[in-house]
Amino acid sequence: MTQSPAPASSAPASPTPGSSTPVSPTTAPPVVFPQSRTCPYDPPPGYDPVRVTGQPLNRVELFDGTEVWMVSGLAEARALLADQRLSSDRERPDFPVFAERLVGIERRRVELLGVDDPEHNAQRRKLIPGFTLKRTAALRPAIQATVDRLLDDMVAQGSPADLVASFALPVPSIVICALLGVPYADHDFFEGASRRLLRGPGKEDVEAARDALDAYLNDLVDRKQAAEPGLPEGLLDDMTGVFDDRDELVNLALILLLAGHETTANMIALGTYTLLEHPEQLARFKAADPAGVSLACEELLRFLSIADGMTRLATEDIDIAGETIRAGEAVVLATSLINRDPAVYAAPDTLDLTRPDRHLAFGFGIHQCLGQNLARAELEIALPALFRRLPGLRLGAPADRIPCKPGDQIQGLAELPVEW
Ligand code: HEM
Repeated sequence: MTQSPAPASSAPASPTPGSSTPVSPTTAPPVVFPQSRTCPYDPPPGYDPVRVTGQPLNRVELFDGTEVWMVSGLAEARALLADQRLSSDRERPDFPVFAERLVGIERRRVELLGVDDPEHNAQRRKLIPGFTLKRTAALRPAIQATVDRLLDDMVAQGSPADLVASFALPVPSIVICALLGVPYADHDFFEGASRRLLRGPGKEDVEAARDALDAYLNDLVDRKQAAEPGLPEGLLDDMTGVFDDRDELVNLALILLLAGHETTANMIALGTYTLLEHPEQLARFKAADPAGVSLACEELLRFLSIADGMTRLATEDIDIAGETIRAGEAVVLATSLINRDPAVYAAPDTLDLTRPDRHLAFGFGIHQCLGQNLARAELEIALPALFRRLPGLRLGAPADRIPCKPGDQIQGLAELPVEW
Protein backbone atom coordinates (compact mmCIF):
# COMPACT_ATOMS: atom_id res chain seq x y z
CA MET A 1 0.00 0.00 0.00
CA THR A 2 0.98 3.65 -0.23
CA GLN A 3 2.58 5.19 2.79
CA SER A 4 0.86 7.68 5.08
CA PRO A 5 2.34 10.97 6.41
CA ALA A 6 5.92 11.21 7.62
CA PRO A 7 7.08 9.42 10.77
CA ALA A 8 7.74 11.42 13.93
CA SER A 9 11.35 10.30 13.99
CA SER A 10 14.05 11.85 11.86
CA ALA A 11 15.57 8.44 11.21
CA PRO A 12 17.46 8.13 7.94
CA ALA A 13 16.30 6.27 4.84
CA SER A 14 17.36 2.66 5.09
CA PRO A 15 18.01 -0.44 3.00
CA THR A 16 15.29 -2.93 2.20
CA PRO A 17 14.88 -5.66 4.85
CA GLY A 18 16.21 -8.94 3.64
CA SER A 19 18.66 -7.29 1.21
CA SER A 20 22.25 -8.27 1.68
CA THR A 21 23.55 -4.71 2.07
CA PRO A 22 25.80 -4.81 5.14
CA VAL A 23 25.36 -2.05 7.73
CA SER A 24 28.73 -0.59 8.61
CA PRO A 25 28.93 0.08 12.32
CA THR A 26 31.29 2.98 11.66
CA THR A 27 29.26 4.85 9.05
CA ALA A 28 25.61 3.96 9.64
CA PRO A 29 23.79 6.49 11.83
CA PRO A 30 22.19 4.88 14.89
CA VAL A 31 18.68 3.53 14.63
CA VAL A 32 16.31 5.41 16.92
CA PHE A 33 13.67 3.49 18.90
CA PRO A 34 10.73 3.88 18.92
CA GLN A 35 9.76 5.36 15.56
CA SER A 36 6.29 5.97 14.14
CA ARG A 37 4.92 3.59 11.54
CA THR A 38 4.36 4.93 8.05
CA CYS A 39 2.09 2.02 7.09
CA PRO A 40 -0.23 1.31 10.05
CA TYR A 41 0.41 -2.45 10.02
CA ASP A 42 4.10 -2.64 9.15
CA PRO A 43 7.13 -1.95 11.37
CA PRO A 44 8.62 1.51 10.77
CA PRO A 45 10.96 1.46 7.74
CA GLY A 46 13.50 3.17 10.00
CA TYR A 47 14.03 -0.21 11.73
CA ASP A 48 15.22 -1.80 8.48
CA PRO A 49 18.94 -1.37 9.27
CA VAL A 50 18.34 -3.58 12.32
CA ARG A 51 16.45 -6.14 10.28
CA VAL A 52 19.17 -6.44 7.66
CA THR A 53 21.89 -7.18 10.21
CA GLY A 54 20.17 -10.54 10.77
CA GLN A 55 21.26 -10.23 14.40
CA PRO A 56 18.65 -10.86 17.11
CA LEU A 57 20.15 -8.13 19.33
CA ASN A 58 21.27 -4.70 18.14
CA ARG A 59 22.27 -1.43 19.76
CA VAL A 60 19.79 1.40 19.15
CA GLU A 61 19.23 4.87 20.63
CA LEU A 62 16.33 6.29 22.58
CA PHE A 63 15.02 9.85 21.99
CA ASP A 64 17.60 11.29 24.41
CA GLY A 65 20.57 9.47 22.86
CA THR A 66 20.72 6.71 25.50
CA GLU A 67 21.98 3.49 23.92
CA VAL A 68 19.90 0.40 24.62
CA TRP A 69 19.67 -3.17 23.34
CA MET A 70 16.86 -3.79 20.88
CA VAL A 71 15.73 -7.42 20.71
CA SER A 72 14.22 -8.56 17.41
CA GLY A 73 14.70 -12.37 17.60
CA LEU A 74 11.84 -14.49 18.91
CA ALA A 75 13.92 -17.14 20.67
CA GLU A 76 16.06 -14.47 22.35
CA ALA A 77 12.95 -12.49 23.36
CA ARG A 78 11.44 -15.57 25.00
CA ALA A 79 14.67 -16.31 26.84
CA LEU A 80 15.04 -12.74 28.05
CA LEU A 81 11.40 -12.31 29.08
CA ALA A 82 11.76 -15.45 31.21
CA ASP A 83 15.02 -14.22 32.77
CA GLN A 84 14.71 -12.82 36.28
CA ARG A 85 17.94 -10.84 35.81
CA LEU A 86 15.88 -8.42 33.72
CA SER A 87 13.80 -6.07 35.86
CA SER A 88 10.49 -4.36 35.05
CA ASP A 89 10.82 -1.94 37.96
CA ARG A 90 10.12 1.49 36.51
CA GLU A 91 11.33 3.26 39.65
CA ARG A 92 14.93 2.33 38.80
CA PRO A 93 16.60 5.56 37.62
CA ASP A 94 18.01 4.02 34.42
CA PHE A 95 14.75 2.36 33.39
CA PRO A 96 14.19 3.22 29.70
CA VAL A 97 11.61 5.88 28.78
CA PHE A 98 10.37 6.38 25.21
CA ALA A 99 9.67 10.12 25.08
CA GLU A 100 10.45 13.28 27.01
CA ARG A 101 6.79 13.84 27.88
CA LEU A 102 6.63 10.44 29.62
CA VAL A 103 9.63 10.97 31.94
CA GLY A 104 7.55 12.25 34.89
CA ILE A 105 5.00 9.44 34.99
CA GLU A 106 7.32 6.64 33.94
CA ARG A 107 9.43 7.24 37.02
CA ARG A 108 6.35 6.78 39.20
CA ARG A 109 5.55 3.42 40.68
CA VAL A 110 3.53 1.18 38.38
CA GLU A 111 2.04 -1.84 40.13
CA LEU A 112 2.03 -5.29 38.52
CA LEU A 113 3.43 -4.36 35.09
CA GLY A 114 6.21 -2.33 36.72
CA VAL A 115 7.26 -4.48 39.68
CA ASP A 116 9.32 -7.67 39.97
CA ASP A 117 8.69 -10.92 41.82
CA PRO A 118 7.91 -11.64 44.59
CA GLU A 119 5.72 -8.48 44.76
CA HIS A 120 4.52 -9.00 41.21
CA ASN A 121 3.50 -12.58 41.87
CA ALA A 122 1.58 -11.61 45.01
CA GLN A 123 -0.43 -9.03 43.07
CA ARG A 124 -0.99 -11.17 39.99
CA ARG A 125 -2.22 -14.15 42.04
CA LYS A 126 -4.95 -12.00 43.53
CA LEU A 127 -6.07 -10.73 40.13
CA ILE A 128 -5.98 -13.97 38.13
CA PRO A 129 -9.47 -15.21 39.17
CA GLY A 130 -10.99 -12.22 37.36
CA PHE A 131 -9.32 -13.11 34.06
CA THR A 132 -9.47 -16.89 33.73
CA LEU A 133 -10.62 -18.52 30.50
CA LYS A 134 -13.81 -19.62 32.26
CA ARG A 135 -14.56 -16.14 33.61
CA THR A 136 -14.03 -14.56 30.19
CA ALA A 137 -16.05 -17.26 28.43
CA ALA A 138 -18.94 -16.31 30.71
CA LEU A 139 -18.65 -12.72 29.45
CA ARG A 140 -19.06 -13.70 25.79
CA PRO A 141 -22.88 -13.31 25.61
CA ALA A 142 -22.61 -9.82 27.13
CA ILE A 143 -19.81 -8.91 24.69
CA GLN A 144 -21.94 -10.17 21.79
CA ALA A 145 -24.91 -8.11 22.99
CA THR A 146 -22.74 -4.98 23.26
CA VAL A 147 -21.30 -5.53 19.78
CA ASP A 148 -24.78 -6.08 18.28
CA ARG A 149 -26.19 -2.98 19.95
CA LEU A 150 -23.32 -0.78 18.73
CA LEU A 151 -23.76 -2.13 15.19
CA ASP A 152 -27.51 -1.44 15.38
CA ASP A 153 -26.65 2.14 16.34
CA MET A 154 -24.22 2.45 13.44
CA VAL A 155 -26.81 1.16 10.99
CA ALA A 156 -29.42 3.54 12.44
CA GLN A 157 -27.04 6.52 12.14
CA GLY A 158 -26.11 5.50 8.61
CA SER A 159 -22.95 5.65 6.52
CA PRO A 160 -20.31 7.19 6.87
CA ALA A 161 -18.86 6.84 10.37
CA ASP A 162 -15.65 6.95 12.36
CA LEU A 163 -15.20 3.30 13.28
CA VAL A 164 -12.97 4.15 16.26
CA ALA A 165 -15.56 6.39 17.93
CA SER A 166 -18.61 4.34 17.03
CA PHE A 167 -17.34 0.78 17.49
CA ALA A 168 -13.67 -0.01 18.11
CA LEU A 169 -13.37 2.09 21.28
CA PRO A 170 -16.84 1.59 22.83
CA VAL A 171 -16.70 -2.24 22.62
CA PRO A 172 -13.70 -2.72 24.97
CA SER A 173 -14.61 0.34 27.00
CA ILE A 174 -18.10 -0.96 27.80
CA VAL A 175 -16.73 -4.45 28.48
CA ILE A 176 -13.96 -3.36 30.87
CA CYS A 177 -16.40 -1.06 32.71
CA ALA A 178 -18.78 -3.99 33.22
CA LEU A 179 -15.94 -6.27 34.30
CA LEU A 180 -14.44 -3.80 36.77
CA GLY A 181 -17.68 -2.20 37.96
CA VAL A 182 -16.83 1.28 36.64
CA PRO A 183 -19.80 3.42 35.48
CA TYR A 184 -19.68 3.58 31.67
CA ALA A 185 -21.38 6.99 31.96
CA ASP A 186 -17.89 8.29 32.89
CA HIS A 187 -16.32 6.97 29.68
CA ASP A 188 -15.73 10.38 28.07
CA PHE A 189 -13.67 11.35 31.11
CA PHE A 190 -11.53 8.23 31.43
CA GLU A 191 -11.06 7.70 27.69
CA GLY A 192 -9.96 11.33 27.29
CA ALA A 193 -7.66 11.20 30.32
CA SER A 194 -6.15 7.90 29.11
CA ARG A 195 -5.49 9.50 25.71
CA ARG A 196 -3.74 12.46 27.35
CA LEU A 197 -1.78 10.10 29.61
CA LEU A 198 -0.45 8.24 26.57
CA ARG A 199 -0.21 11.04 24.05
CA GLY A 200 0.34 14.25 25.99
CA PRO A 201 1.02 16.57 24.20
CA GLY A 202 3.38 17.78 26.98
CA LYS A 203 4.86 16.46 30.22
CA GLU A 204 2.42 18.54 32.29
CA ASP A 205 -0.60 17.20 30.37
CA VAL A 206 0.59 13.65 30.94
CA GLU A 207 1.11 14.16 34.68
CA ALA A 208 -2.22 16.02 35.03
CA ALA A 209 -4.03 13.18 33.22
CA ARG A 210 -2.44 10.62 35.54
CA ASP A 211 -3.45 12.68 38.61
CA ALA A 212 -7.00 13.06 37.29
CA LEU A 213 -7.34 9.30 36.74
CA ASP A 214 -5.92 8.59 40.22
CA ALA A 215 -8.39 11.05 41.78
CA TYR A 216 -11.31 9.57 39.83
CA LEU A 217 -10.52 5.99 40.86
CA ASN A 218 -9.83 6.99 44.48
CA ASP A 219 -13.24 8.64 44.60
CA LEU A 220 -14.87 5.62 42.97
CA VAL A 221 -13.37 3.30 45.60
CA ASP A 222 -14.66 5.65 48.33
CA ARG A 223 -18.14 5.55 46.80
CA LYS A 224 -18.01 1.77 46.55
CA GLN A 225 -16.88 1.44 50.16
CA ALA A 226 -19.73 3.74 51.21
CA ALA A 227 -22.07 1.35 49.30
CA GLU A 228 -23.45 4.20 47.16
CA PRO A 229 -26.62 2.90 45.53
CA GLY A 230 -26.71 2.53 41.75
CA LEU A 231 -23.01 1.88 41.22
CA PRO A 232 -22.25 -1.15 39.03
CA GLU A 233 -20.50 -4.03 40.81
CA GLY A 234 -17.43 -5.81 39.49
CA LEU A 235 -13.83 -6.82 39.99
CA LEU A 236 -12.97 -3.51 41.62
CA ASP A 237 -15.38 -4.37 44.45
CA ASP A 238 -13.66 -7.74 44.93
CA MET A 239 -10.23 -6.05 44.80
CA THR A 240 -11.27 -3.58 47.51
CA GLY A 241 -11.58 -6.53 49.86
CA VAL A 242 -8.26 -8.08 48.81
CA PHE A 243 -5.81 -5.16 48.52
CA ASP A 244 -5.41 -3.28 51.84
CA ASP A 245 -3.10 -0.60 50.48
CA ARG A 246 -5.18 2.16 48.88
CA ASP A 247 -2.42 3.40 46.54
CA GLU A 248 -1.76 -0.14 45.32
CA LEU A 249 -5.48 -0.72 44.73
CA VAL A 250 -6.00 2.53 42.80
CA ASN A 251 -2.83 2.02 40.76
CA LEU A 252 -3.94 -1.51 39.79
CA ALA A 253 -7.43 -0.31 38.91
CA LEU A 254 -5.85 2.31 36.65
CA ILE A 255 -3.73 -0.28 34.83
CA LEU A 256 -6.72 -2.56 34.28
CA LEU A 257 -8.97 0.26 33.09
CA LEU A 258 -6.34 1.66 30.74
CA ALA A 259 -5.05 -1.66 29.38
CA GLY A 260 -8.62 -2.93 29.15
CA HIS A 261 -9.82 -0.35 26.64
CA GLU A 262 -6.81 1.23 24.85
CA THR A 263 -5.22 -1.98 23.59
CA THR A 264 -8.23 -3.87 22.24
CA ALA A 265 -9.69 -0.71 20.68
CA ASN A 266 -6.52 -0.39 18.62
CA MET A 267 -6.66 -4.04 17.59
CA ILE A 268 -10.28 -3.74 16.42
CA ALA A 269 -9.66 -0.56 14.40
CA LEU A 270 -6.30 -1.60 12.99
CA GLY A 271 -7.54 -5.16 12.37
CA THR A 272 -10.46 -3.77 10.34
CA TYR A 273 -8.18 -1.47 8.34
CA THR A 274 -5.75 -4.32 7.65
CA LEU A 275 -8.47 -6.70 6.49
CA LEU A 276 -9.95 -4.02 4.22
CA GLU A 277 -6.48 -3.53 2.72
CA HIS A 278 -6.11 -7.29 2.09
CA PRO A 279 -9.32 -8.23 0.19
CA GLU A 280 -8.35 -11.88 -0.39
CA GLN A 281 -7.71 -12.39 3.29
CA LEU A 282 -10.92 -10.55 4.13
CA ALA A 283 -12.90 -12.93 1.91
CA ARG A 284 -11.29 -15.81 3.78
CA PHE A 285 -12.12 -14.18 7.12
CA LYS A 286 -15.78 -13.70 6.16
CA ALA A 287 -16.05 -17.38 5.25
CA ALA A 288 -14.23 -18.71 8.32
CA ASP A 289 -15.81 -20.90 10.99
CA PRO A 290 -15.17 -20.07 14.69
CA ALA A 291 -11.88 -22.00 14.70
CA GLY A 292 -10.80 -20.15 11.54
CA VAL A 293 -11.77 -16.81 13.08
CA SER A 294 -9.72 -17.60 16.15
CA LEU A 295 -6.68 -18.51 14.03
CA ALA A 296 -7.18 -15.36 11.95
CA CYS A 297 -7.27 -13.18 15.07
CA GLU A 298 -3.96 -14.71 16.22
CA GLU A 299 -2.42 -13.82 12.86
CA LEU A 300 -3.74 -10.27 13.14
CA LEU A 301 -2.21 -10.05 16.62
CA ARG A 302 1.14 -11.21 15.22
CA PHE A 303 1.01 -9.05 12.12
CA LEU A 304 -0.05 -5.86 13.89
CA SER A 305 1.98 -6.22 17.12
CA ILE A 306 0.32 -3.17 18.65
CA ALA A 307 2.30 -3.33 21.93
CA ASP A 308 5.51 -2.65 20.07
CA GLY A 309 8.19 -2.10 22.70
CA MET A 310 8.35 -3.92 26.01
CA THR A 311 11.03 -2.52 28.29
CA ARG A 312 13.40 -4.05 30.87
CA LEU A 313 16.60 -3.20 32.76
CA ALA A 314 19.39 -5.74 33.38
CA THR A 315 20.31 -6.19 37.04
CA GLU A 316 23.19 -8.59 36.25
CA ASP A 317 25.30 -9.37 33.19
CA ILE A 318 23.48 -11.64 30.74
CA ASP A 319 25.22 -13.51 27.91
CA ILE A 320 22.94 -14.10 24.96
CA ALA A 321 23.33 -14.58 21.19
CA GLY A 322 27.05 -13.84 21.36
CA GLU A 323 26.50 -10.51 23.16
CA THR A 324 26.69 -9.49 26.80
CA ILE A 325 23.95 -7.31 28.21
CA ARG A 326 25.72 -5.57 31.10
CA ALA A 327 24.09 -4.92 34.47
CA GLY A 328 22.46 -1.49 34.29
CA GLU A 329 21.82 -1.63 30.54
CA ALA A 330 18.31 -1.26 29.18
CA VAL A 331 16.57 -3.65 26.81
CA VAL A 332 13.64 -2.95 24.49
CA LEU A 333 11.75 -5.85 22.94
CA ALA A 334 10.31 -4.79 19.59
CA THR A 335 7.32 -7.08 19.03
CA SER A 336 6.80 -5.77 15.48
CA LEU A 337 10.16 -7.31 14.56
CA ILE A 338 10.08 -10.28 16.96
CA ASN A 339 6.75 -11.37 15.47
CA ARG A 340 8.28 -11.15 11.99
CA ASP A 341 11.50 -12.96 12.83
CA PRO A 342 12.50 -14.62 9.52
CA ALA A 343 14.14 -17.46 11.46
CA VAL A 344 10.68 -18.46 12.71
CA TYR A 345 8.02 -17.27 10.27
CA ALA A 346 7.85 -18.10 6.57
CA ALA A 347 7.18 -14.90 4.56
CA PRO A 348 6.92 -12.93 7.80
CA ASP A 349 5.69 -9.70 6.16
CA THR A 350 2.72 -11.49 4.57
CA LEU A 351 -0.67 -11.54 6.26
CA ASP A 352 -1.80 -15.16 6.16
CA LEU A 353 -4.92 -15.79 8.23
CA THR A 354 -4.34 -19.55 8.19
CA ARG A 355 -0.83 -19.31 9.65
CA PRO A 356 -0.58 -21.69 12.61
CA ASP A 357 2.45 -20.07 14.30
CA ARG A 358 2.40 -18.66 17.80
CA HIS A 359 3.45 -15.07 18.51
CA LEU A 360 4.62 -12.77 21.28
CA ALA A 361 1.99 -10.03 20.86
CA PHE A 362 0.86 -10.58 24.47
CA GLY A 363 4.42 -10.79 25.79
CA PHE A 364 5.92 -13.79 27.55
CA GLY A 365 7.02 -14.80 31.05
CA ILE A 366 5.67 -13.47 34.31
CA HIS A 367 4.22 -10.26 32.83
CA GLN A 368 2.47 -11.98 29.92
CA CYS A 369 -0.81 -10.14 29.30
CA LEU A 370 -3.33 -10.76 32.06
CA GLY A 371 -6.19 -9.68 29.80
CA GLN A 372 -5.37 -11.86 26.78
CA ASN A 373 -8.40 -14.15 27.15
CA LEU A 374 -10.63 -11.09 27.31
CA ALA A 375 -8.91 -9.41 24.35
CA ARG A 376 -9.28 -12.58 22.26
CA ALA A 377 -12.96 -12.91 23.15
CA GLU A 378 -13.60 -9.30 22.13
CA LEU A 379 -11.73 -9.62 18.83
CA GLU A 380 -13.31 -12.96 17.94
CA ILE A 381 -16.78 -11.49 18.50
CA ALA A 382 -16.36 -7.90 17.24
CA LEU A 383 -14.57 -8.42 13.92
CA PRO A 384 -16.81 -11.14 12.39
CA ALA A 385 -19.96 -9.34 13.59
CA LEU A 386 -18.78 -6.10 11.99
CA PHE A 387 -18.25 -7.68 8.56
CA ARG A 388 -21.45 -9.75 8.83
CA ARG A 389 -23.60 -6.75 9.66
CA LEU A 390 -21.91 -4.34 7.24
CA PRO A 391 -20.83 -6.60 4.35
CA GLY A 392 -20.11 -3.60 2.11
CA LEU A 393 -17.79 -1.97 4.65
CA ARG A 394 -14.97 0.03 3.03
CA LEU A 395 -12.51 2.77 3.94
CA GLY A 396 -14.05 6.25 3.87
CA ALA A 397 -10.76 7.95 2.98
CA PRO A 398 -7.68 7.00 0.95
CA ALA A 399 -5.68 4.44 2.93
CA ASP A 400 -2.57 6.63 2.94
CA ARG A 401 -4.48 9.54 4.49
CA ILE A 402 -5.35 7.61 7.63
CA PRO A 403 -2.58 8.51 10.07
CA CYS A 404 -0.93 6.09 12.49
CA LYS A 405 -0.62 6.80 16.20
CA PRO A 406 2.86 7.88 17.35
CA GLY A 407 5.41 5.11 17.70
CA ASP A 408 5.95 5.64 21.42
CA GLN A 409 2.54 4.36 22.48
CA ILE A 410 0.22 1.44 21.73
CA GLN A 411 0.03 1.27 17.93
CA GLY A 412 -3.21 1.98 16.17
CA LEU A 413 -5.36 4.56 14.42
CA ALA A 414 -6.76 7.67 16.09
CA GLU A 415 -9.66 7.67 13.60
CA LEU A 416 -10.92 5.24 10.98
CA PRO A 417 -13.37 6.77 8.49
CA VAL A 418 -15.58 4.05 6.98
CA GLU A 419 -18.54 3.78 4.61
CA TRP A 420 -20.91 0.94 3.74
C1 HEM B 1 -5.10 -7.03 21.97
C2 HEM B 1 -5.01 -6.45 23.11
C3 HEM B 1 -3.83 -6.51 24.04
C4 HEM B 1 -2.49 -6.60 23.76
C5 HEM B 1 -1.82 -6.71 22.41
C6 HEM B 1 -1.81 -6.62 25.04
C7 HEM B 1 -0.44 -6.74 25.18
C8 HEM B 1 0.21 -6.86 26.39
C9 HEM B 1 1.63 -7.10 26.54
C10 HEM B 1 2.63 -7.22 25.40
C11 HEM B 1 1.90 -7.19 27.86
C12 HEM B 1 3.26 -7.49 28.50
C13 HEM B 1 4.02 -6.24 28.84
C14 HEM B 1 5.40 -6.52 29.38
O1 HEM B 1 5.81 -7.66 29.53
O2 HEM B 1 6.12 -5.52 29.64
C15 HEM B 1 0.64 -7.00 28.56
C16 HEM B 1 0.50 -7.00 29.93
C17 HEM B 1 -0.69 -6.73 30.56
N1 HEM B 1 -1.94 -6.59 29.98
FE1 HEM B 1 -2.36 -6.65 28.02
N2 HEM B 1 -2.73 -6.53 26.03
C18 HEM B 1 -3.98 -6.48 25.47
C19 HEM B 1 -5.19 -6.42 26.12
C20 HEM B 1 -5.35 -6.35 27.48
C21 HEM B 1 -6.63 -6.28 28.15
C22 HEM B 1 -7.99 -6.32 27.49
C23 HEM B 1 -6.37 -6.20 29.48
C24 HEM B 1 -7.42 -6.18 30.53
C25 HEM B 1 -7.38 -5.60 31.63
C26 HEM B 1 -4.91 -6.24 29.65
C27 HEM B 1 -4.22 -6.18 30.84
C28 HEM B 1 -2.86 -6.37 30.98
C29 HEM B 1 -2.18 -6.35 32.26
C30 HEM B 1 -2.84 -6.14 33.62
C31 HEM B 1 -0.83 -6.59 32.01
C32 HEM B 1 0.32 -6.68 33.02
C33 HEM B 1 0.50 -8.13 33.45
C34 HEM B 1 1.62 -8.33 34.43
O3 HEM B 1 2.50 -7.48 34.56
O4 HEM B 1 1.61 -9.37 35.11
N3 HEM B 1 -4.34 -6.33 28.40
N4 HEM B 1 -0.37 -6.81 27.64
